[in-house]
Amino acid sequence: MSEQVTPKIPTLTLKADNALTIAVDGLVVATSTDNKFSIVGDALSKAAATKLRDALLAVGATGARDEVVRIPGLGITKAPLIVAVGLGSIKNAPTHEHLRRAAGNATRSLFGFKKLALALPATDAGSAQALLEGAALGAYAFGDHRFATAKKAKSGATSIALVTALAATAEFKAALSRAKTVVEATTFARNVINTSPLHMPPAELAAAAQALLADSTVEVTVLDEKALAKGGYGGILAVGQGSSRPPRLIRMQYSPAGATKHIALVGKGITFDTGGISLKPPASMHEMKADMSGAAAVIATMHAVAALKLPIAVTAYAACAENMPGGNAQRPGDVISAYGGRTIEVLNTDAEGRLVMADALVRAAEDKPDAVFDIATLTGAAVVALGFRTAGVIGDEDPRNMVLAAAAKAGEEFWPMPMPEELRAPMDSLVADIANIGIREGRMLSAALFLKEFIADGLPWAHLDIAGPAFNAQAAHGYTHKGGVGFGVRTLLALLETTAQEG
Ligand code: BES
Ligand code: MN
Ligand code: ZN
Repeated sequence: MSEQVTPKIPTLTLKADNALTIAVDGLVVATSTDNKFSIVGDALSKAAATKLRDALLAVGATGARDEVVRIPGLGITKAPLIVAVGLGSIKNAPTHEHLRRAAGNATRSLFGFKKLALALPATDAGSAQALLEGAALGAYAFGDHRFATAKKAKSGATSIALVTALAATAEFKAALSRAKTVVEATTFARNVINTSPLHMPPAELAAAAQALLADSTVEVTVLDEKALAKGGYGGILAVGQGSSRPPRLIRMQYSPAGATKHIALVGKGITFDTGGISLKPPASMHEMKADMSGAAAVIATMHAVAALKLPIAVTAYAACAENMPGGNAQRPGDVISAYGGRTIEVLNTDAEGRLVMADALVRAAEDKPDAVFDIATLTGAAVVALGFRTAGVIGDEDPRNMVLAAAAKAGEEFWPMPMPEELRAPMDSLVADIANIGIREGRMLSAALFLKEFIADGLPWAHLDIAGPAFNAQAAHGYTHKGGVGFGVRTLLALLETTAQEG
């Protein structure tokens, strides 16, 4: 696996030490607007907290949510730098996501500082986990492509310690190890998304998955173009045929002994989406290197599932192809045959995600899972409808609600969307079983209706359209950097954890 992709994460620890005497480059404290302005938590002594409060007030700190104020250590702490992050009012205890974002804001502002300590309010194990996740994700740095020049990117923190009196408890130790796993998984997803699409064709994405999962109990099988042809995977092959770099279907199987439930995951892995012959306009085309974010999320989730030894069987598929307009590219009007034999008239080669997903969804049903969840940067319409930070979830009621509940736990934004049946008829084809586009209106919804055609009868299913939040082209915020987000990993993991617990 290339250097860019290997998930390198800061060393995360819990420390019961005194926050004031801990030897680090930067100490993070929390402030609140409550009682006019206050230092939150009990990691600092009263006297130190008072001194710090005065110093922060003097430079205009207010404790407002998302505020980040940096001051010198002033001899109050051993750390030469103190960063105060505002939590706003916390009269109603801060949510985990609120803490995750605050910790991320802090470490993002400490970029280039190596050793950090967090004197932040970890009142319970869930809060500790969120703080560690947010801090480590905020410290993320893409090991970019500037290897040969002096401009090599500054890197984020190398170690992050959460200072808490509960450091020695079993709950906090478990929270630490879960945070590490979540951060590793999310970092992997961010890295493969951020990697130049030149360096991340389907075969390379498959190699990255194999390397990530090499030492785990996840069994990885990769179907190359020959195997895909032999198996009749017409959707993946059709999308990939315009590229000189052939498609892959990655299958990942985790089946612990004694598991009673089995979930299937399917991710869209378009390593670059030019639109094909139905070429996209140039303006933001480079962002289409993120069109494999669904695949990245399912691969990353498999890493986490195995690391946490979840007692549930999970089979995941990443359907990978590069959508290019080469001389052998599919044409608008071509009729292709998806895995299992259903025919599709390709009226727009830019609606390619659903073609690769069709193959993988039909294949996934053969494993007889109890439910299937697919995740894809499927439609621009999802971005128009829900913006940059919210994903859509569409499908059967139970799995849809499972996704919403998991997302709420994990701190990711999802919103339920309908599947109006009148949008199906416009996808009728004159020559094939279905056409790959319908009418302009409601395109996120007709894309889901298209996928539904490839869901086995009676198999509970939900579709996650993450086109908006997968790639952050806006300003960085909280623990979210510009570029690949690693969106969906925490939600899928929470979903599987809940399902596993329900037995
Ligand atoms: N990968 C795109 C969807 C997308 C757009 C993701 C913007 C992230 C940001 C997808 O393959 C696509 O091109 N969809 C078309 C479908 C249309 C031709 C029916 C779209 O949404 O415009
Ligand atoms: Mn497309
Ligand atoms: Zn696409």
